[in-house]
Amino acid sequence: MGRDVIVACDFASAQETFDFLDKFGGRKPFVKIGMELYYSQGPSIVKAIKDRGHKIFLDLKLHDIPNTVKKAMAVLSRLDVDMTNLHAGGGIEMMEAALEGLTRPDGTRPLLIAVTMLTSISQDVMANELGIGGELPDTVMKYAANAAKAGLDGVVCSPQEAQTVHSACGSGFLTVTPGVRFADGDKGDQKRVMTPAQANQIGSDYIVVGRPITAAADPVAAYERCMSEFVGGNV
Ligand code: C5P
Repeated sequence: MGRDVIVACDFASAQETFDFLDKFGGRKPFVKIGMELYYSQGPSIVKAIKDRGHKIFLDLKLHDIPNTVKKAMAVLSRLDVDMTNLHAGGGIEMMEAALEGLTRPDGTRPLLIAVTMLTSISQDVMANELGIGGELPDTVMKYAANAAKAGLDGVVCSPQEAQTVHSACGSGFLTVTPGVRFADGDKGDQKRVMTPAQANQIGSDYIVVGRPITAAADPVAAYERCMSEFVGGNV
């Protein structure tokens, strides 16, 4: 599995997304479709982007009882996405059911990645609203270990967590990391960031990059810079 840059296409409409992707000509970046685009456009947006030749990470973060998740994953798998995800908080049985649902009749399936604890959850919220004791980083690692135990392919985590996840769950367990910014770029609302080159050095498998590419004056140049820093190891 090679390293890759996944472009977060956080656009509100199909047209905006197509206009953005048109800029890339024959270049076909790996694209992340999130809830906003999927829920506004429906499954046809996945098919349309796939037909243009892109790999797709469908970021819908499923979380329900095992049987429901299994059936929903079977539907997403038929959309021919390359990667999708769920909340590890649904438990090991739910994650195992998701894998069953995702597996196509020919034995192939999209990569399945778990979200551990959302980065919007603080230590205080975890303890006092969710009623989960202990330290937040330990919960993140516990959820990652559960995902590995269930047979999932990896987790979404901050670049800072990638090394710990690899040492606990094995180097083949994928780390998909958002929170990436160029050294000379704007951090926006992301708090803990890393450059693509740093993400390469600490062993991230995939970086998810939105605004540094989508809001750049020249998105194609920004994407190429990201690829060169992350995949090529150049700074
Ligand atoms: O624009 P930016 O590079 O911040 O976009 C990052 C993408 O990764 C967004 O689609 C965001 O929802 C997603 N993400 C994140 N932090 C997480 C999980 C997902 O930024 N912890």
